[in-house]
Amino acid sequence: MNCCVVGLQWGDEGKGKVVDILAEKSDIVVRYNGGANAGHTVVIGDNSFALHLLPSGAVRPNITCVIANAVAVDPECLINEIETLHDKGIKLDNRLWVSENAHVVLDYHKTEDKLREESLGKNKIGTTIRGIGPCYADKVGRSYAVRMADLRNLDKLKEKLQTIVDYKNKLFGALYNAKAIDVDQIYRKCELYADSLLDFTVDTTKFLHKSITAGKAILFEGAQGSLLDMDHGTYPFVTSSNSSSLGMPAGCGVPGKIVDKFIGVAKAYTTRVGAGPFPSEQDNETGQYIRAKGHEYGTTTGRARRCGWFDAVAVSYTTTISGIDCVAMMHLDTLAGLDEVKVCRAYNIDGRETSFFTADAATLAEAQCVYETFEGWQEDLRGVTNFNDLPSNARNFICGIEEMIAKPITIIGVGPKRNQTIFR
Ligand code: GDP
Ligand code: IMO
Ligand code: MG
Repeated sequence: MNCCVVGLQWGDEGKGKVVDILAEKSDIVVRYNGGANAGHTVVIGDNSFALHLLPSGAVRPNITCVIANAVAVDPECLINEIETLHDKGIKLDNRLWVSENAHVVLDYHKTEDKLREESLGKNKIGTTIRGIGPCYADKVGRSYAVRMADLRNLDKLKEKLQTIVDYKNKLFGALYNAKAIDVDQIYRKCELYADSLLDFTVDTTKFLHKSITAGKAILFEGAQGSLLDMDHGTYPFVTSSNSSSLGMPAGCGVPGKIVDKFIGVAKAYTTRVGAGPFPSEQDNETGQYIRAKGHEYGTTTGRARRCGWFDAVAVSYTTTISGIDCVAMMHLDTLAGLDEVKVCRAYNIDGRETSFFTADAATLAEAQCVYETFEGWQEDLRGVTNFNDLPSNARNFICGIEEMIAKPITIIGVGPKRNQTIFR
């Protein structure tokens, strides 16, 4: 069975936990989009791993990990992650493959991300400053991009870097009055990256096609969430890759039709980091309650996440664009203790009620949520392992959402640990 796990909201839905669980029955886990802007948490016993570039299957020693073509690879971050796992006794030799065609995030991308965000003031996107947008812009622009394969010929790369850094220095100097970047420093870092990463760098498309022929079970791991998708999310408040499942075929060179099951991950409420419209946001005591109870602070940046009610209009849209077969709903435990819990079932836009999502940021910013209210539950759910043992109000909440999004909820998260999961 080949599966693809994808976020249905604005990221941080709990994909890391779901991928880790499903990896038990997989041979290969593939990251196909985004870069070190992602932060996927895997909790094993008392150990918590925050993975940014390595697929969440990496913590299982028998899993082969692939970082595919469309991932923006920050070599410094990747080397750190490999070393961190190594220090915990988890080795990646001969089971990690990085695409030679993946684009490389270098220091000037992070500088550009930061300078641009600062210059935008109140209009900033609220990026993770991981250089993601600038790296993908260079990829699409083609003339000033660096791929993993370029690390194989350092003399040629040195010349290329000189051209790129000259260009960037002119640009950053003129636009932001920034101080010049030292090309030698970037080059010396590339020598180290080549040293550490070339053994892992291969044609991952060929590897994946051979693996498919050999009947291996492949799990594709989306980063971010479908509402942050470059083409289908709440543009411009999105990331710079296709973070819905639509990014999977293009991102790794494998046709979508080989996937047997597309599994969407959503929280039992909604969170968002950074700027952009968020119709069901609760910038009040309810939001604070969810943030405190769910530890809603960014895995990558530590920023407080904005919190709000579950938005069935948005999730119906993302299950549709991502072709979702079933949903994993995480953090049901976090809602315990509230007298009532709400779900946005429709929007009121310009006095008209609609259950169709609009990705247009300006229109969405005007949308008023029409809520369905469910009675809350007070019980701690973290020890529950069977759906029928959940309080009836929690079951009603799950079934109510299933009806609104017209998809089965087959996995329910009741805590961060592997065993705090209900399968239906
Ligand atoms: P990802 O980016 O989608 O992988 O999600 P993150 O790792 O950024 O954020 C999800 C957070 O919720 C992590 O701290 C997880 O350990 C935690 N988590 C995942 N599922 C559950 C759950 O069902 N209940 C609780 N309380 N925490 C969860
Ligand atoms: P995971 O994979 C949540 C958000 C940023 C910002 C916008 C653009 O852990 O779910 P970028 O740095 O990508 O240019 O920032 O996207 N963002 C995420 N939010 N989870 C993520 O990843 C995110 N990756 C990017 O906060 O609003
Ligand atoms: Mg995350």
